[in-house]
Amino acid sequence: MSHVLVSGEVAELLANVRVPDDLTVRLLPPEEEVPRGEFAGILPVLTRRIGAAELDRLAGLRVVANMAVGYDNVDLDAARARGVRVTNTPDVLTDATAELTWALILAVTRRVAEGERLARSGDWTGWGPTQLLGKGLGGRTLGLIGAGRIGREVGRRAPAFGMELAYWSRTRRRDWEDETGAVWVAALPDLAARADVLSIHVASTAETRRLVDGPLMDRMKDGAVLVNTARGDVVDEPALIERLDAGRLWAGLDVYAGEPVIPERLRALDTVTLLPHLGSATGETRQAMFDLAWENLVRCVRGQEPVTPVA
Ligand code: DGY
Repeated sequence: MSHVLVSGEVAELLANVRVPDDLTVRLLPPEEEVPRGEFAGILPVLTRRIGAAELDRLAGLRVVANMAVGYDNVDLDAARARGVRVTNTPDVLTDATAELTWALILAVTRRVAEGERLARSGDWTGWGPTQLLGKGLGGRTLGLIGAGRIGREVGRRAPAFGMELAYWSRTRRRDWEDETGAVWVAALPDLAARADVLSIHVASTAETRRLVDGPLMDRMKDGAVLVNTARGDVVDEPALIERLDAGRLWAGLDVYAGEPVIPERLRALDTVTLLPHLGSATGETRQAMFDLAWENLVRCVRGQEPVTPVA
């Protein structure tokens, strides 16, 4: 019999899978309350940090099966050093996150949230020729920071809006360039200067933390739009707030540096559309993420190779 710990938040999704008879599932308690003991696997959600101290308490642990494509909540080096596998959930959330990115692009450029607030307020005085004017997308350039699975899927939708596509990425994606007409830009500041909408699709790592900083934002065009559906700490949030406040930039954000805290100054601005980390939030996607994390967990517990390992 093996024992595993699963985040309480996923109880509804867990109810849809068959738990093998040789596995017992317990809820993953807060970090400081994790019992010492023989747990073969843990399945956390992205808000649950898994650090070295906890890994030390869980002697015999084989896997951290993260229910997210991002795994910045897991101390990868500590897991590696202790021979613990780490897995994530790529692919299954790519379309959902790409769609949410476009929802934000459209919401910001067409001022959807402001319009919605006005419509609900009871203060709307009727159609006006210069009311809540936004920007069209046709002929404008979408710049992608990162061309991994999600970035490429966001890019595939750009021609449908008549947008030009440019990207900056360590790896050139020539097939995808041929497919979409995307232009690779060698230097990130040049991409920032070229894009009307700049969308972030890189993981949070030591190299990408605050990659989009004040000087990079200053390369962006006046009134350009910054969209972030990746991780909040890729952006220098205070620097962005300054530029939004000054009316220099507009933004659409799904992620924040200190989630779930969204700075009050940010919440007060109309030049930004804010969402509460909804990138992968469709019913079918969340179940698919859980199913994949679960399969990784079960495989590793049985000493088999996981489907989607990161370490
Ligand atoms: C992930 O899986 O990393 C996403 O942020 C979830 O929405």
